[in-house]
Amino acid sequence: MDIGIFVAIAENGVIGRDGGLPWRLSTDLKRFKADTMGKPIVMGRKTWESFPKKPLPGRQNIVITRDPGYAAEGADIVHSLEEALSLAERREGDMAAAGEACIIGGAAIFEQSLPLADRLHITHVLAEVEGDVSFPPVDWAAWRLVRSQDVPAGEKDSFPTRYAVYERLRG
Ligand SMILES: NC(=O)c1ccc[n+]([C@@H]2O[C@H](COP(=O)([O-])OP(=O)(O)OC[C@H]3O[C@@H](n4cnc5c(N)ncnc54)[C@H](OP(=O)(O)O)[C@@H]3O)[C@@H](O)[C@H]2O)c1
Repeated sequence: MDIGIFVAIAENGVIGRDGGLPWRLSTDLKRFKADTMGKPIVMGRKTWESFPKKPLPGRQNIVITRDPGYAAEGADIVHSLEEALSLAERREGDMAAAGEACIIGGAAIFEQSLPLADRLHITHVLAEVEGDVSFPPVDWAAWRLVRSQDVPAGEKDSFPTRYAVYERLRG
């Protein structure tokens, strides 16, 4: 199963503020929903807690925590990234459209999964934004752009964005 990272990143690398997202990007959230539907989504405990206490529907929600007693209704709890990926793999048969495990954040999980990722789905937020968590540095020489789409800011979007997909160069 491929490993895909899904992230929205400001021009200055910021991805979050105060435990949440520092923007409203309704158009991008719709695209994110469509692209991840039917697939396993892997996230850190803090990102899980930034949602309104329920799983993202139609996807296998996998939450990583070091807390052995952690419970989250509607999500599978694991205690390492490796465990998350092997669970995503095992459930592949249940999820007809799944060919990709979707890593959806936050910064701690992105940092650990970047070396393993096959694909980056990056929403480039076309603004510098204040925040307290950033995406780790990317070695762009290891990636090739396969598609990109400019998305003007709609009524419910804080900023214009560019959605881009990168694949890891092999060989
Ligand atoms: N812009 C975007 O696309 C995007 C996407 C997602 C999230 N975000 C933002 O990112 C921020 C959250 O990121 P974050 O880095 O603070 O938190 P996070 O990555 O969501 O979660 C971190 C937690 O995951 C668990 N964890 C991490 N590595 C682990 C490991 N190897 N083994 C077991 N458990 C592990 C730990 O949970 P325990 O403490 O329970 O042990 C850790 O505290 C929020 O502001 C959120 O809104 C942005």
